[in-house]
Amino acid sequence: MIRSIAIGAALVAGAQAFSVVPAGMAPAHAATASSTSLRMSSAPVQGNTRRDAIGTLLAGGAGLVLPLRGGNDGPVPAASAEGGPYTLPPLPFEYNALEPHIDEMTMKIHHDKHHQAYVNNVNKALEGGQVMELVDLQKGAMASAAIRNNGGGHYNHAMFWTTLAPAAKSGAPSPALAKAIDESFGSMDKMKEAFSAAAAKRFGSGWAWMGVSPDGKIVIDSTPNQDNPLMDGVNCQKMIPILGLDVWEHAYYLKYMNKRPDYIKAFFSVINWSQVSEYYEQYASKGKAVPIQG
Ligand SMILES: [Fe+2]
Repeated sequence: MIRSIAIGAALVAGAQAFSVVPAGMAPAHAATASSTSLRMSSAPVQGNTRRDAIGTLLAGGAGLVLPLRGGNDGPVPAASAEGGPYTLPPLPFEYNALEPHIDEMTMKIHHDKHHQAYVNNVNKALEGGQVMELVDLQKGAMASAAIRNNGGGHYNHAMFWTTLAPAAKSGAPSPALAKAIDESFGSMDKMKEAFSAAAAKRFGSGWAWMGVSPDGKIVIDSTPNQDNPLMDGVNCQKMIPILGLDVWEHAYYLKYMNKRPDYIKAFFSVINWSQVSEYYEQYASKGKAVPIQG
């Protein structure tokens, strides 16, 4: 699994960002404008300032230095199924806060059971191996089915919760994001039409995405299962996602049953546009993937 992945790392101004690439592939994303390669380094990295304190550890005798999650004050443990390193982030609102658009029972099962399972399973997949920031896990995730499905599932859901808000607090895109949407789609309504179509046409389980393309345009596409646009090799328009919609039946079936279009329509009432706008302005518009915590 993770041991079969070659790890490349780069420093980005003021903070560290890391990339993962399948063996034999060159790092491609501009999100990690490389100034200092850590590949095959034999010395630990010092001076990390990330808020969740990435540590470092020599990896499995391979001589790689990898960014690990944990404290800087002591040894950093390897991944374990129960103990992390990834954890289920709490919902930023009450289970019933999105009523009537998304019902309380769906939110409780979706967050506490489905998302928790992705967290448990990605921790299990990484057990005894190396761990990195959740966002950095995505790039090379397709090299491992377990990490693709569960590491993807964890990132996707962790982002999803942050982009939802009670209808009264949904708000509107910031002026900068609204301008970008207008430039790419002509209007907010046209963007919604395109997003709704992508979500409705995704056959089976998957996600609809809005993001920023490498040339700075707002784009929309969808991915199957728990894939996301950050994964190298994914069948999706290249973008840094800022908004995703879960169209797995577990996300809507209790309330909407077979009426996925009604769920998609309801979603637009509970988007946290303030958060999505921040993801656009602080990260995606600058070519950086959104560092979702989880
Ligand atoms: Fe889900």
